[in-house]
Amino acid sequence: MDTKWLQGRLIVLDGPDGCGKSTQVKMLCAWIARQGVEVRTFRDPGDTRIGEQVREILLSPAHEAMGTMTEFLLYMASRAQLWSEKIAPALAQGCCVVLDRWLSSTCAYQGHAGGFGVDRVLRVAQDTLERVWPDVTIILDVDTDTAAQRMDRELDRMELKGQAYHQKVRQGFLNLAQTQDRFVVVDATQPIDGVHKAVIQGVTGFY
Ligand code: TMP
Repeated sequence: MDTKWLQGRLIVLDGPDGCGKSTQVKMLCAWIARQGVEVRTFRDPGDTRIGEQVREILLSPAHEAMGTMTEFLLYMASRAQLWSEKIAPALAQGCCVVLDRWLSSTCAYQGHAGGFGVDRVLRVAQDTLERVWPDVTIILDVDTDTAAQRMDRELDRMELKGQAYHQKVRQGFLNLAQTQDRFVVVDATQPIDGVHKAVIQGVTGFY
């Protein structure tokens, strides 16, 4: 397979908490590297000095007073910094960039589950982000019961929002996948290798 098309591509893996995203990001990056293409991976929010501090503010359970507007603006701020400091330079060098979350999360969490409004998220994104959508978004879909079983650890402020909120998050991702182009939904309740295969199929399916 000619894999030149992977150069300069922006790929996002996203989904509800407990969907197994971090494992799949690592496996996808290893696969891209095996194709002979330089790959960079970043997590959103985070991965810049500013972004990691914003991440801490966002996820600390001590900040339970945080409203959806503040949450929304902080996620967008961290993302703007990640774009200019890390993503844009990596793409300009011809690397393939794999992101652990992106605007799709803001649509599902703040826009849909948080009641901020998905259209409103998209309007602000159009005005503030240099790049709104990646080349491909893979949504790792998981039901809330399976997800909760996988999160056998101390939970952060977002994870603590409860089952009803997280059910809406899942629906928010599924709605987005139906309304936006270049989205693929993968059943993330399968064994890890099966999910990985489906992720590769999702990524290669557009090229
Ligand atoms: P992570 O644990 O997958 O790195 O994500 C951090 C948390 O932030 C996770 O619960 C999802 C949430 N989140 C949002 O609510 N909005 C966003 O825009 C992003 C990127 C993440």
